[in-house]
Amino acid sequence: MTGPLVLGIETSCDETGVAVVEGFTVRSSVISSQVDDHARFGGVVPEVAARAHVEAIRPLAHQAITLAGIHPNDIEAVAVTRGPGLSGALSVGYSYAKSLAYSLGRPMYGVDHMEGHLFAPRLSFDGYEPPAVVLLASGGHSQIIHVKRWGEYEVLGGTIDDAAGEAFDKLARFMGLGYPGGPAIDKDSDGGDPEAVQFPRALRDRPFDFSFSGLKTSVITYLEKARDADELPARNDVSASIQEAIVDVLVAKTFNAVESTGVEIVGAGGGVLANRRLREKFAEEADRRGVGLFVPEPALCTDNGAMIASVAVDRISDGVPGDDLFGDVDPGLALGS
Ligand code: KG4
Ligand code: ZN
Repeated sequence: MTGPLVLGIETSCDETGVAVVEGFTVRSSVISSQVDDHARFGGVVPEVAARAHVEAIRPLAHQAITLAGIHPNDIEAVAVTRGPGLSGALSVGYSYAKSLAYSLGRPMYGVDHMEGHLFAPRLSFDGYEPPAVVLLASGGHSQIIHVKRWGEYEVLGGTIDDAAGEAFDKLARFMGLGYPGGPAIDKDSDGGDPEAVQFPRALRDRPFDFSFSGLKTSVITYLEKARDADELPARNDVSASIQEAIVDVLVAKTFNAVESTGVEIVGAGGGVLANRRLREKFAEEADRRGVGLFVPEPALCTDNGAMIASVAVDRISDGVPGDDLFGDVDPGLALGS
């Protein structure tokens, strides 16, 4: 399937991502990760992120264009993350996108980062179509969305405190597993017993909402007590149990929404969907209920430019014009509002 050739840029947090898509086919997608720059601080430092994007963006854009086998003049539109995210980081990508669009004489589309995650499965699958329920779980956001049509979203629920990725990150930090915490706990839980410790599953009475701050307190209290009693369990048992507690509620609440809306399509995106146990549990549950599950490959779950470009592809096919080049980033942008 072909479609417009769009260059997509993502710089909302700690990965610089540039990609070229043709319709919903990825022609190239490159990432420059800043993980090493932030790791020694134990989390993302906004100034460090903005500077790293400045250094990475131009060579990365060239690389994406070269790998796609196109000439810059072939680009039909430029897409860029407008928010939510870190304002300095967003501004780097946004300014670069503006100048590129202006110099090429092509339209520029500012995209909601979370809508990018919501669109990512379109790059991997046919058949991912509304009406659908989509779980978005990243470092800053955790939401369950009822997609009525592309562009029409009802937020059914979300976290009332920490995002799922944030819970992984904070707990990994407490356990000394490093940053980013999600991949660290995912890896550390290998061979661990997910039933070893029963950590709480919060908000049972709110079918579509999450809360992860109680889990954090409970893990910290548990580990401190165990340490004082000199009865510390195997670390991989604790990691597997934490992971299971987070995964359990993400899956249960997504399927509560599937049941309540009656949709037959379930999608998911955001960095946390790279988690192996979450992917496995999602697949089991979708299978059991006979609904279609659309979770893209891990590289399209974490931040990337292709998902941003894919939103512009949809806008272009709807005849939506590009944005005013005098516009600006919106660090607090929220889906469905
Ligand atoms: O979507 P994303 O790449 O960036 C944001 O938009 O925030 O998500 C990053 C989050 C981080 O919190 C990271 O720890 C988490 O996704 N993450 C994971 C895994 N890989 C990344 N969480 C659990 N398991 C993973 N394998
Ligand atoms: Zn993201």
